[in-house]
Amino acid sequence: MKKYLNKVTQGDCLDLLKEIPDNSIDATFADPPFNLKKKYNGYKDSLEFKDYLDWCEKWITEMVRVTKPTGSIFVHNIPKWLTYYASFLNKLADFKHWISWDAPTAPMGKTLQPSHYGILYYAKDSMKNKFNEIRYPHKRCRKCGYLLKDYGGKKAGLHPFGPLVSDVWSDIHRIKHNKYRDEHPCQLPIHLLERIILMSTDEGDIVLDPFVGTGTTVIAAKRLGRRYIGFDIDKKYVELSQMKLAKEKTNSKIGNIWVSWFLGGLVTIRDKDWEELSQNYFIPEHRNHIDHTVIKFVNFKRVVDRVST
Ligand SMILES: C[S@@+](CC[C@H](N)C(=O)[O-])C[C@H]1O[C@@H](n2cnc3c(N)ncnc32)[C@H](O)[C@@H]1O
Repeated sequence: MKKYLNKVTQGDCLDLLKEIPDNSIDATFADPPFNLKKKYNGYKDSLEFKDYLDWCEKWITEMVRVTKPTGSIFVHNIPKWLTYYASFLNKLADFKHWISWDAPTAPMGKTLQPSHYGILYYAKDSMKNKFNEIRYPHKRCRKCGYLLKDYGGKKAGLHPFGPLVSDVWSDIHRIKHNKYRDEHPCQLPIHLLERIILMSTDEGDIVLDPFVGTGTTVIAAKRLGRRYIGFDIDKKYVELSQMKLAKEKTNSKIGNIWVSWFLGGLVTIRDKDWEELSQNYFIPEHRNHIDHTVIKFVNFKRVVDRVST
């Protein structure tokens, strides 16, 4: 396994996964081709229905095999395929969540408009599973820091940073602008993977992605001080990921605490880190002009200044 650690390797994931020992990985994440005829560089994304599902069952079985008893398995896809994936996974691991990642798409006609991707979240063994509660920031006025929502006059009792993350993720958006995209049809945002990694692993743990594409998972893992293993069948994507990894110098940390941030703001923190994080930067108190309760707000600018790059 050592030869695959902290690298992206080209090859068919079914062959490469065979070389990874049982129970050796802390978190496995897969974002496979969706069989929707997407235009990849080499891979033809159009298998027969049964062939696609038979193939998926094979790599899902391998993902579970390599995951540690304390570890977690994540699979991202459209709901249609996830219903089959769940039937495979239910035989091998313990269901934790169906995460609904809010991502509006174009209307397709004669259907409800698809507006989310799913991320199946399984524990290899729910009694031993490693899990960290995570929080996302309140929406605040950029200038004054006041909360944008009223919260029914209950602002004073709120967590100063933000709510615990639920199984509906609508605060992370798909990458739409070309300036943030690589030449790949299905690139995921790095802070989506950072959230998953902060929730399910600790510093130094190993994260494996058998369909790494543009390297999103391995870059998120590297930024967060985790070890990583990435596979992709396409030489072009492997080279792209390797180049991005070599350039990646971000250490996504405030003080001693690993955090996820994007475009000048924190996206995800661990609940247990809040006390130490809150001491690292200034939280001014403000008298809210609407309900006259004292609220606290976090100075995000200071936070970003402290993320070393
Ligand atoms: C949906 S994309 C992954 C995108 C990735 N999550 C990202 O953020 O860039 C699926 C990837 O699987 C790769 N792929 C297809 N068949 C494969 C196989 N048998 N083994 C390894 N990789 C494969 C494709 O080349 C493609 O890059």
